[in-house]
Formats: sequence, structure tokens, C-alpha cells
Amino acid sequence: MANNEELFKKIISHAKEYGFVFPSSEIYDGLSSVYDYGQYGVELKNNIKQYWWKSMVQYHENIVGIDAAIFMHPTTWKASGHVDAFNDPMIDNKDSKKRYRADVLVEDHIAKIEEKIDKEVDKAAKRFGESFSEEQYRTTNPRVMEYAEKIAYIKTRFYGALEKGDLADVKALIEELAIVCPMSGSRNWTEVRQFNLMFSTSIGSLSEDSNTIYLRPETAQGIFVNFLNVQKSGRMKIPFGIAQIGKAFRNEIVARQFIFRMREFEQMEMQFFVRPGEEMKWYEYWKAERMRWHHSLGISPAKYRFHDHDKLAHYANAAADIEFEFAFGFKELEGIHSRTDFDLGNHQQFSGKKLQYFDTELNESYVPYVVETSIGVDRTFLAILSNAFTEEKLEDGSERVVLRIPPVLAPIKAAVLPLIKKDNLPEKAREIMDNLMGDYVCQYDEKDAIGRRYRRQDAIGTPYCITVDHQTLEDNTVTIRERDSMKQDRIAIEEISSIIANRLKTDYRPKSAL
Ligand code: GAP
Repeated sequence: MANNEELFKKIISHAKEYGFVFPSSEIYDGLSSVYDYGQYGVELKNNIKQYWWKSMVQYHENIVGIDAAIFMHPTTWKASGHVDAFNDPMIDNKDSKKRYRADVLVEDHIAKIEEKIDKEVDKAAKRFGESFSEEQYRTTNPRVMEYAEKIAYIKTRFYGALEKGDLADVKALIEELAIVCPMSGSRNWTEVRQFNLMFSTSIGSLSEDSNTIYLRPETAQGIFVNFLNVQKSGRMKIPFGIAQIGKAFRNEIVARQFIFRMREFEQMEMQFFVRPGEEMKWYEYWKAERMRWHHSLGISPAKYRFHDHDKLAHYANAAADIEFEFAFGFKELEGIHSRTDFDLGNHQQFSGKKLQYFDTELNESYVPYVVETSIGVDRTFLAILSNAFTEEKLEDGSERVVLRIPPVLAPIKAAVLPLIKKDNLPEKAREIMDNLMGDYVCQYDEKDAIGRRYRRQDAIGTPYCITVDHQTLEDNTVTIRERDSMKQDRIAIEEISSIIANRLKTDYRPKSAL
């Protein structure tokens, strides 16, 4: 763990040093859990958004996009349940004065028991060798079974208490499990309280209650309230989807882990409207499809896993996360939720406007059911960046830091470098740059020795460096250096563009079930 913490710190400082992510308003000592994206960060972020948009909207004839406003009529959030139920149970440690989410404390405790089980299983696997059956061991070994029963007990008690709103019992459980404050090590806890995560502000000149509006905590509601506008104006037939990328805001109390949990962040959401009764089929479809999308980025599939929710959000009848193995463990990257007709039904009730679809095949009207895919841009950014960050020892004994970002997402696709700053090499390099820059985000660099310039490009994840040397002037060839292998090839100038284009291609195509 210490090593992972070290690594995580390195990734954060690399992100700052190389213009990916800066703390917000840093000259005023920053604002907790708010970050700005720098010159390379914004390119990576835009590429992530484009890759998602292409796969969801461009590749699906029955998914269209919208861009709804951040501010919405305040009744939206009454109808969606966020005013009453978008809460986190919080507990303070009286000694360290630190505030924690009670669910995180309990889930961390469960994770520790799970680690113990994994250790037992690993030990047994080594002891029994080839004849070892993990499934049998997990269901028969007394110690493992005892741990598993403990986990089941904690989950039933904890989620039961939350369900009933019995916060005193949540505190009693924390005490019973002897959970200590990670900072002070003490068990001196306050009562557990619910804390609403929405930011509010006021609209107009008066700050009366009636003028209170919220900064949206999810983009999804902008889609729900526009459901009929899009369906009618686009003559969409069920099943169909509406996609959106945009900012969301949550007053996260325990905001930590860099851009993993922010107060202002971006979501990429898609609501898929289906016939009532068909939602589980589509829920399974989107679970599988979204996992395929993640795998298409070329990151090891072992870094991803599903986690089915034990406690469902107030709007869901089934929910799973796609988790990614960050430096601080497996954590949620994307949520896939079967939201039933909860949102449309409630908006219909609160607004008094019908939000129904007439199904010509069935010859009946109904409120559609919804399956949602919801992924954070910033968490995807962190997953890509963390996975890409590599420290390498080279054969000549030197070291380099390289970001092995999937080429399609890399901020800069190619750097054009004159070997030296004279003999007409810069002019020739500029010519090449001018030809490429309309198609790809490129960078021209003539400062410092060529080796240092290669290192700078490695550190920001540029897939190709194109070097112009004296031979270029004679035969119109350049060397092209590939980021990961550092292999250099001599190619004709006219080949550059197609080589880059080939590297940016991905295999991803959604399954044609839609
Ligand atoms: N509309 C459903 C919804 O908002 P969620 O699981 O609360 O569901 C979806 O959020 C995704 O948004 C998460 O999987 C995560 O990637 C991202 N996300 C949520 N809260 C975040 C935060 N405070 N900072 C960064 N990303 C966040």
C-alpha cells in the first residue's frame, strides 16, 4: 500500500508539472476538491468525451444527444427525490475533528475482512497446488466461512439501518465493529447525521426561499425533463437513448483522492428508454456493452470488474458499478442503473404534464422505463492517467517517465522536431507541421538536445516524434519514433499522416443489438 501511495503522489505531481491538472485557484492556496485542467489535460479530457460521444451517439442511430442547462426548475429536484434523499450519512471523530461518511467507514471495514479471506485463499492455493478448488475452499473452510458470515451480518445490519433511517443503529454498528478514526486512531465518535449533497444558490435579486435553485447533482434530469421534446421532435421510437455530457456538482464532504471525488465534475450519461418489462434485458445489454467499451481502450481487463449494488439508490431496481483498480484500490468508475419509471413517473406527477409514449406496435401509451449508463469524465481521466504512468529504466542505464496513454486519447498526436536549429531544418520541419496540424493536434519543438525533447514528449504521452535531419532535405524522408518501443524508422514524409491515422484507430464498434 505504501508503494501505491507513493505512486499516486508521483502521478499527482506529474499531472501538475506537465500541465494536465492544477489545483483550482492555487495562488490563493486552492479550493478543496476543485481542480483545473491544463493545456494537455484539456486535450485528454476532450478526447475522452469525443471517444464516448462517438461510441454512444455516432455509432447508434437510435441515440441522440442534448445539452441541457445546469440550472433547472427547483421542483425538478423534489420530483427526482434529490431534495429528500440525496444524502450521505456523516460521522465526526471528536479527537481528530475529521468528518467521515459512515458508509465509507463500514465499507472499508468490510474490505479489510475481504482481504483476510483472499489471504487465506492464496495460502491454501499454494499449499494444495493443482488440486485446489477455490470455490470449494470458500464454501467449506471454517475460518473463511466465519469471515463471510461476518460480512453478511454487517451488510444486513448496516443497509437495514440506512433503509429504516435508523442512524443511531449505524453509530452503534460502527462502535460494535470497533472502527477507529484513521487519523486519530480513536473511537470517540459523534452521532451520525444525514447531509444533503446539493449546492444551492438563488436566482434573481431576492434571496428568498422561493428563489432557491440547485446546481444539478447529475446531468440525467436534464434528459428526463426533455424526454418528450426529443422524442417528438426527433420522431424517436422506443427503444431509444438520449446522451449528454456536462458538469454536475456535489457538496462532497469527504472529498479526497485528487480528481476521484470532486465537488465540480463532469458526467457522460445516457438514458435508454424502453418498454416496461424489458428493462432487465437492456440493463444486461448495457452492462456488457459498457464493459466492452472500457476494454476497447487497451487497458488490461484485469483492471476492471463489476460490483453489484447491495443498497439501491432511491430510483433503481437494479444497479451495478464498473470498478477500476486505481492506486487506492478498486473503486467506482461508471454506474449502470435500471431506473424503472421512477423519474418520468414523478416528473409527470409533479408537473401535471403527461410524459407518455404511444407505442404503435402495442397500440398503447405508457411511461417508459429507463436504463442509464453514467460515467465520470474526471474518473476516466484519472484511470487513463494512472494506468499510463510508467517509470522505466532503459538499457543504457538512464530512466524515463512515459505516459502510455491510448493513442486515440493522447493530448498531442505527434511532435515535429528539427534535429538542430539551423541549416534550414527548422523551415522544413515547419512545412511538415503546417501540413499535419489541420488533422492532428501536433507540437513543434526545437529547443534543447533531441534526447531531452523526446523525453518531454514521452512525459505527456505523444505517440510519435518526427525528426527532420539533413537527409530530409535530400530525399524527403524523416525518422519517426514510436513512444512505447522507442523504435525509430525512416519513412517518406507523405507516409506520416497515414501512420498516425492507423495508430489512432480502435476496434470498438457497439454490438448491433439495438
Ligand atoms: N445519474 C446517476 C448518477 O449520477 P452516480 O453513481 O452518483 O450516478 C455517476 O454518478 C458517475 O459520476 C460515477 O460513476 C463517477 O464516475 C462520477 N462521479 C460521481 N460523483 C463524483 C464526484 N464527486 N467526483 C467525480 N466524479 C464523480
